[in-house]
Amino acid sequence: MGAQFARNILMIGFMGTGKSTIAQKLKTLLKMEEVDIDAMIVKRAGKPISDIFADEGEAAFRKLETEALQSLVGCQSLIISCGGGLAMQPQNQPIMKQAGVVVLLTATPKTVLKRVGHSTHRPLLNGRMHEQGIAELMDARAEQYAKCADVTVSTDHKTVAQIAKDVIAQLQAFEQSQSLE
Ligand code: S3P
Repeated sequence: MGAQFARNILMIGFMGTGKSTIAQKLKTLLKMEEVDIDAMIVKRAGKPISDIFADEGEAAFRKLETEALQSLVGCQSLIISCGGGLAMQPQNQPIMKQAGVVVLLTATPKTVLKRVGHSTHRPLLNGRMHEQGIAELMDARAEQYAKCADVTVSTDHKTVAQIAKDVIAQLQAFEQSQSLE
């Protein structure tokens, strides 16, 4: 099933929806390269995301995020894991469209809490690491996520293999519908 998608595949969604995990699985299944925008930023800044937020503020982090995304436009057959806030920045949305096909992963606040409840490196969840806090931020973001997505896959109560299979099926249907236009 190698190199099945010439276009890049961008993984977006709220923190804890499984973007990085599913990207790794897709990398194996589709024999594509995978890049993680958060990891690119950490490498470039030479410090963890929580330190970038603490030392330079969120706006500086968002600028690095846009630069990293922009640097991938023109690449091919990459799976690109995006941080949860990347799709929220209006300036990123046209770049995402240029960069490839966009897969939105979703999960309920309960599932997200279960997955990231012990995380200490997600500054935007500081002080809201409970179902209600997650639900509020998720609700505030839902419309923008949906607007950016070419395909959407729910990740609740599914194995990694099932989610990856659903993503591939949806992507194939989407590419098919595009080629018929
Ligand atoms: C963020 C999500 C994080 C990371 C940063 C900001 C967000 O990535 O980019 O902490 O605004 O939702 P993950 O979604 O991979 O946790």
